[in-house]
Amino acid sequence: MSPAKQASGGWTNPLRDPQDRRLPRIAGPCGMVLFGVTGDLSRKKVMPAIYDLANRGLLPPGFSLVGFARRDWADQDFAQIVHDAVKANARTEFREEVWEQLSEGLRFVPGNFDDDEAFDTLRRTVEELDQQRGTDGNHAFYLAIPPAFFGDVVGQLREHGLADSGTDAWRRVVVEKPFGHDLESAQALNQVLDDVFPPGSIFRIDHYLGKETVQNILAMRFANTLFEPIWNANYVDHVQITMAEDVGIGGRAGYYDGIGAARDVIQNHLLQLLALVAMEEPTAFDAEALRIEKQKVLSSVVLPSRLDLATARGQYAPGWSGGVQVPGFLDEEGIDPHSTTESYAAVKLNIENRRWAGVPFYLRTGKRLGRRVTEVAIVFKRAPHLPFSPLSTEELTSNALVIRVQPDEGMTLRFGSKVPGTQMEIRDVNMDFAYGGSFTETSPEAYERLILDMLLGDPPLFPRHQEVELSWRILDPVLDFWARQDEEGRTPPEPYPSGSWGPASADEMLARDGRAWRRP
Ligand code: BG6
Repeated sequence: MSPAKQASGGWTNPLRDPQDRRLPRIAGPCGMVLFGVTGDLSRKKVMPAIYDLANRGLLPPGFSLVGFARRDWADQDFAQIVHDAVKANARTEFREEVWEQLSEGLRFVPGNFDDDEAFDTLRRTVEELDQQRGTDGNHAFYLAIPPAFFGDVVGQLREHGLADSGTDAWRRVVVEKPFGHDLESAQALNQVLDDVFPPGSIFRIDHYLGKETVQNILAMRFANTLFEPIWNANYVDHVQITMAEDVGIGGRAGYYDGIGAARDVIQNHLLQLLALVAMEEPTAFDAEALRIEKQKVLSSVVLPSRLDLATARGQYAPGWSGGVQVPGFLDEEGIDPHSTTESYAAVKLNIENRRWAGVPFYLRTGKRLGRRVTEVAIVFKRAPHLPFSPLSTEELTSNALVIRVQPDEGMTLRFGSKVPGTQMEIRDVNMDFAYGGSFTETSPEAYERLILDMLLGDPPLFPRHQEVELSWRILDPVLDFWARQDEEGRTPPEPYPSGSWGPASADEMLARDGRAWRRP
């Protein structure tokens, strides 16, 4: 290994301190093989992110991307697909010279997942790239395909000598959710991957962890003195984690029907947010230390015993979204008109540890809600005593710290302040931090960060299988409870108008606790 090559597979300038995190981290010689090139994920996220990384100078000059699919395509046809995806979805400006360099490393291998010959061709293609483009035997296999095929593909990679480079080069596998549909299937899926790749070579993508604002939760909590002293049950009344979307299920009926909002979003993105908000300080910002803390806090999460009172689910009804009339969930193309799949889910969770005892965490997500917003709101207890007349504080609510994950990235602190005038009147005001106002850099797309980290072999932002399994352990009883209700034909998902903030039962769930959802 050359002295300039890090163990992680990245390159360093020997005159620079490799510990200096302000320097750009550039991937060392490598390539990626993409399965599922015709899917939405590849075209909307993966291909554009690769171009954006190349455009930012973060990929090695010889980077190569091999597409594998059941299509009768030549390399040029694949290049056209990537080109169109980049033009339509890349974050950064299109530059001909960047595209030219990138497109020289594009190859296509046609074949089925059970086609031995195709996997032999894939192996030869990868070896040729090592010679022609200097990818040095370092290759990542990105499975942007349904999990039902993971076993076939990783089995083929092993059979055809692709899973193990046999040298000091690396081989990695990248998988996307859904990581199973319950605990049992998640364990089976993890086993399939573990049989072929060592744990350090498996990268599970939860794209929320690639978002700047999500990573900032740890920076905000653990790089400051301000927040941590009040980050506990003595001061916090409850926490609300919201991921609201204004879009419907679009063309994803095939994936979504039978999956629903809880499996699609709560099991992964929202429970990861909960873990980052609630966990203890890790000993370091590395994958193992983070896993230990996330695993610990997820192990302490318990559901209330009355699931009928601690959960809510709904389906969007026809209505208006962005001034356009939209169909209801059951009228969407590809959805079974009797489907009981939820497009909205809310759940109350308790964390049984000293820091959080008695502080409920309310999680909700839904499609076709009032607007697109993801936020974490830490709502504080009211002051134990107010030395003002009740009238003076009539408009004062609870202090709150809101982490605005998207789209308006930043943080808001809500507290009471005197209204100017001769009277003592106290009202809520907001203090804002906006990324746009404080930093000149724009935030990269989550996929840029995660693909780069994976190529660098840097795993802190990828959930480990223990976290995935614990998240299912939390959610499985809710899913079973809803399935039982469906079987008994009781309390189907409650319709809510498109463009609203979800079903009334979700509001009632908080009202029973004397609380209300925020209207972001
Ligand atoms: C995905 C879900 O993980 O996240 C989608 O499968 C959802 O249903 C998407 O639309 C939202 O991602 P973002 O980054 O736009 O909040």
